[in-house]
Amino acid sequence: MSESQAGAGGALSEAQIAVHWKEETKIPPPPEFVGQANLTDPGVFERFSLDNFPECFKEYAELLSWDTYWHTMLDTSDAPCWKWFVGGRLNASYNCVDRHLEKYKNKAALIYVPEPEDEAHVAITYRELYVRVNELAALLRDFAGLKKGDRVTLHMPMVPELPVTMLACARLGVIHSEVFGGFSGKSCGERIADSGSRVLITIDGYWRSGTKIDHKGNADIAVETAESLDQTVEKVLVWKRYAGEPLSKTPMVEGRDYFVDDILPDYRGRRVDPVPVAAEDPLFLMYTSGTTGRPKGCQHSTGGYMAYVTGTSKYIEDIHPEDVYWCMADIGWITGHSYIVYGPLALAATSVMYEGVPTYPDAGRAWRIAERLDVNIFHTAPTTIRMLRKAGPDEAKKYNYRFKHMTTVGEPIEPLVWNWYHQVVGKSQAVIVDTWWQTETGGFLCSTTPGLHPMKPGSAGPAVPGIHPVIFDEDGNEIPSGSGIAGNICIRNPWPGAFQTIWGDRERFVETYYAKYCKDPKSKDWRDWPYFAGDGAMLSDDGYYRILGRVDDVINVSGHRLGTKELESAALTVDEVAEAAVVPVADDVKGRAPEMYVSLKPGIAADDQVEKRIVTAIEGMIGKIARPKHVYIVPDMPKTRSGKIMRRVLAAISNTLDVGDVTTLANPDVVEDIRVMVQGEGKVETRKGPEDLERFGQET
Ligand code: WT7
Repeated sequence: MSESQAGAGGALSEAQIAVHWKEETKIPPPPEFVGQANLTDPGVFERFSLDNFPECFKEYAELLSWDTYWHTMLDTSDAPCWKWFVGGRLNASYNCVDRHLEKYKNKAALIYVPEPEDEAHVAITYRELYVRVNELAALLRDFAGLKKGDRVTLHMPMVPELPVTMLACARLGVIHSEVFGGFSGKSCGERIADSGSRVLITIDGYWRSGTKIDHKGNADIAVETAESLDQTVEKVLVWKRYAGEPLSKTPMVEGRDYFVDDILPDYRGRRVDPVPVAAEDPLFLMYTSGTTGRPKGCQHSTGGYMAYVTGTSKYIEDIHPEDVYWCMADIGWITGHSYIVYGPLALAATSVMYEGVPTYPDAGRAWRIAERLDVNIFHTAPTTIRMLRKAGPDEAKKYNYRFKHMTTVGEPIEPLVWNWYHQVVGKSQAVIVDTWWQTETGGFLCSTTPGLHPMKPGSAGPAVPGIHPVIFDEDGNEIPSGSGIAGNICIRNPWPGAFQTIWGDRERFVETYYAKYCKDPKSKDWRDWPYFAGDGAMLSDDGYYRILGRVDDVINVSGHRLGTKELESAALTVDEVAEAAVVPVADDVKGRAPEMYVSLKPGIAADDQVEKRIVTAIEGMIGKIARPKHVYIVPDMPKTRSGKIMRRVLAAISNTLDVGDVTTLANPDVVEDIRVMVQGEGKVETRKGPEDLERFGQET
């Protein structure tokens, strides 16, 4: 093992960031895995080299069934809005359902595991999925009046009706926009308005941590919020978690709200021909947080997206039709769309869906599910791995299951946690892929190819086939491998899974993702448009990328992005609050958690009611996931002379890092007052922090 020394011998420029970390020893994939892997030909990287770009992606497109073949692989005329497989027509629901009927109609497409352990699992065969998707598509078309190109918002938790609804939309060419079930009614309403949805599909309630959640009430808030933003919701379709008495006490609104169960019998036995859509027609929108506060509707295509998630599910997730694949993510995030629903189903996999909390009712739950269903591919996030490790460090050993493959995704994983995942959860027999990607990218960007590369704890690995990353410093110079210097990771080339634009905001799309390193905004050549991911990263001399975290003011909480501005605006809706600043703080389980600093309007005294109101506002406007770890009511914010809040200083205090030179601030004394409030009296030893925390709030 060697210590990689940043900028050894040479001085670092302002634009460079040095990183020190221990190189981990690599672990080869187990031979049993390699023996059965979908991809073991090292020639793949040559086939997917830049010399063979973009034609290489034909290999992925051919995994799909097309109604019409494309005539142009990649059209760059509207750079940087790339169009893939132009001229091609296909249907995503056909690819995930109909085409498997001949061979697999009696095989489970989905296995649903309800949270209450005494409730039976539900296996839905491909035939049954076909029937349900068709009947619902008929209802959506004939009862809700939905047609190709319309947007519909879904606000649904982990129930089998969610993938059924997504596929029914896809069958009609209707663009679905699923909002994570844990988000508030208000968040949902804003997304309804942004996407221009006339129909909202939701559910009465569901189980979470042993509690029945009344979900329907959120729909009323969502519709009201959308209305205030000039978007009328004509129909709210409400699924029921259980037949009979609804789980929600919230009344149904006459002429607007309908229980799906009441109408569906009218569509029994109906079949709807899948509507072939153009490859570049949108399949769905997925909202994600950005720096300016307003969530961005990432628009994903049908052809490119389906080709990419199918290819990566096959070669990186190593899914075969015989496998039992369990991704513990929520379908309300991109991971669930790409790697619970579209990718696995396109490959005729059996995809397991679990309703609830991984540690409910105890630390053995996840492993009992794995044992009972004989799961052999397991997919989750570092935050869950940390939670499972904390709840039951040896629990997995008690259960008799065997994973051939495991995934970690969503945030950097500490080598210590990686090793636990490998040894205890994987029983040292599973191959692990650490997949780095984003809502925007549709599918994996960096990961080891499991049958070809050794694993390296803490590093995502090289890029996946067809992806060509580059790390730039702030000035646009390429940072070489092995330099020990971190920079901004970008992708040199377009790829089929990339989102097409931000819904309704092309300018923001170009500005956020392509403007930074584009030398000629008029260029139609993809080589001039590197994709800017917004993550700090470092490249070792063995070609493995280590992702260090966000470079913008977005906080990655439990593997999901929260915009600090969104939290700050929520706090500012509380009357007493004058100013608010949110910073990330390191958290044992969540990776990062938001911590909030507020100052009150003159003459108002701090009391814990204010703090409660702030927390309530955040939960109501965004959701519980955004709840701050602490709210500090400070006498004043540290500010520059021009009046800017110094978030960098607050982040340093929250994380006991060095606050640096504060003498040039307008009010340097307040820094020590705040430090004492957060860290207590007496000097606390500062330490070196992870790069994203060190750099948070720095002016670049
Ligand atoms: C951000 C994207 C992609 C699905 C879930 C999150 C971070 C993602 C990794 C990884 C280190 C990672 C990045 C990225 N991230 N995967 N394997 N190692 N960091 O999707 O909410 O769009 O967040 O998550 O910072 O930009 P998302």
